[in-house]
Amino acid sequence: MELAPHPVIPQKKPVLVCILDGWGENPVTDQYNACHVAKSPTIDALAAKGPGYYRSVLAHGPAVGLPTDGDMGNSEVGHNALGAGKIIAQGASLVDIALETKSVYSGAGWAHVKPAFADNTLHVITLLSSGGVHSRYDQVLKLCQGAVADGCKKLRLHVLTDGRDVPDNSCHEYMRVLVEDLAKLEGCDAKVASGGGRMKVTMDRYEADWAMVERGWKAHVLGDAPHKFTDPIEALNKLKEGGDSDQYVEPFVITDADGKPVGTVEDDDAVVIANFRADRVVEISKAFEYPDFNSFDRVRYPKVRFAGLMQYDGDLKLPANYLVPPPLIERTSGEVLAANGLRTFACSETQKFGHVTFFWNGNRSGYFKEDLETYVEIPSDNVPFNQAPLMKAREICAAGKEALRSKKYDVVRVNFANPDMVGHTGDLAATIAACEECDACVKELLDVVDELGGMFLLTADHGNADDMVQRNKKNECLFEADGTTPLPLTSHTLAPVPVAIGGPALPANIKFRDDLPKAGLANVTATYINLMGYEAPAEMEPSLLAAF
Ligand code: 3PG
Ligand code: CO
Repeated sequence: MELAPHPVIPQKKPVLVCILDGWGENPVTDQYNACHVAKSPTIDALAAKGPGYYRSVLAHGPAVGLPTDGDMGNSEVGHNALGAGKIIAQGASLVDIALETKSVYSGAGWAHVKPAFADNTLHVITLLSSGGVHSRYDQVLKLCQGAVADGCKKLRLHVLTDGRDVPDNSCHEYMRVLVEDLAKLEGCDAKVASGGGRMKVTMDRYEADWAMVERGWKAHVLGDAPHKFTDPIEALNKLKEGGDSDQYVEPFVITDADGKPVGTVEDDDAVVIANFRADRVVEISKAFEYPDFNSFDRVRYPKVRFAGLMQYDGDLKLPANYLVPPPLIERTSGEVLAANGLRTFACSETQKFGHVTFFWNGNRSGYFKEDLETYVEIPSDNVPFNQAPLMKAREICAAGKEALRSKKYDVVRVNFANPDMVGHTGDLAATIAACEECDACVKELLDVVDELGGMFLLTADHGNADDMVQRNKKNECLFEADGTTPLPLTSHTLAPVPVAIGGPALPANIKFRDDLPKAGLANVTATYINLMGYEAPAEMEPSLLAAF
């Protein structure tokens, strides 16, 4: 893993790697493209330097290991690619293959949960969505069908409504289809047992708000929630009457006619989490897996056969049992840099902290060499981010500047969460403000790079803020029934993302090459390793740079 010196670029620290989370380079530049509308003099100036210093790379579909070109990028696969420099078949693809080949039903994880099928209940906890970011409904249904084929007599679904990776207000339709599909599972008593919105119940990440997970535990396991209904469709109709988005539906429990929950989790039951992506199910997995868990009071801790669709944390081996082996992401840039004695600083706020560390490092929660790596987490606010669109960008910027000026680090990596997190609210004005804040912070960081005579690489992990409206196939904007209110787009986009390079230490003859038009995020890794003054390992996707 020894890195050879780059023949042209000096080993001149520090190099800044800056990620604008959710900033896409969308070809559609109308009033709904917040990145375009935002006043962004810094990024405009970088773009004005032309294709030698500013280009875009693919951040969606097969370029980042997703099954199809219709799969938008996301932070997991984006940061995996940026950190590893390789295109890795991702969870969604691996589950597709395991279902197709049926290997999922012959693995150790399935064998672990299967003994509960005959006399106990199989509980499936999942994001109810076809978004393909955390879960996919077609995969969930196939797993349920596979369980029934293997003798499952009682199945209970605990579902988190989406509205973030798929359009808001689509949860009714997903629930209708689910209820219909469950009714078709012959020989199995299959029902929805509990649920709630993904940003309210269960799917917290990076320990930002354990209360979300506690609400989920109570609803899914204990059958305890503020809202009880006998019918899941009615549950959503009633709970959404007040105008809550799908993301924020209150927790609910389904009961029988006597008010008894239909699907509490009991000793000897099996519990499967059917999300393939890790970040938002690590916490609930810990609650099921760890006997000595104390992040909240579980009240009752049933002895269950627990499995994840994947193993969510390779360092923690969490959970111990899983249905499909996760992608093996090895020899990431973090590991290679540490092995060469190079020092890394990484920083973001809570909502993206694991993105620039855990995902960047190939889904590892630890360090490679702790004395060479400094990871700083700025606590995020716990609010809908359109109410605080500046988020913690200033604090991240300040930490990045301090790290650069300390000259302790060979590479300083920062992630600004705003374009993505505010983009997910669907609030156009707030997202424009979020993008403007990022641009201002980038300016401050680049000024410090100038002052120190360093180099920088600016990029993003996927699109989001670059399109804030739902569109038809002709790219025309869609409106609510009133014909004037645009239907907000809360999800990521298929857009490529920008990559910009520069800084006083960049040799005049180093520029972006022009023979890699289809390059993707994985090509960025070798690029920043080059900027650090080293040749990248040959197994990584080629660098975007060339000497002219
Ligand atoms: C989320 O988990 O917030 C979204 O589903 C995906 O967003 P991210 O990939 O940008 O984290
Ligand atoms: Co996002």
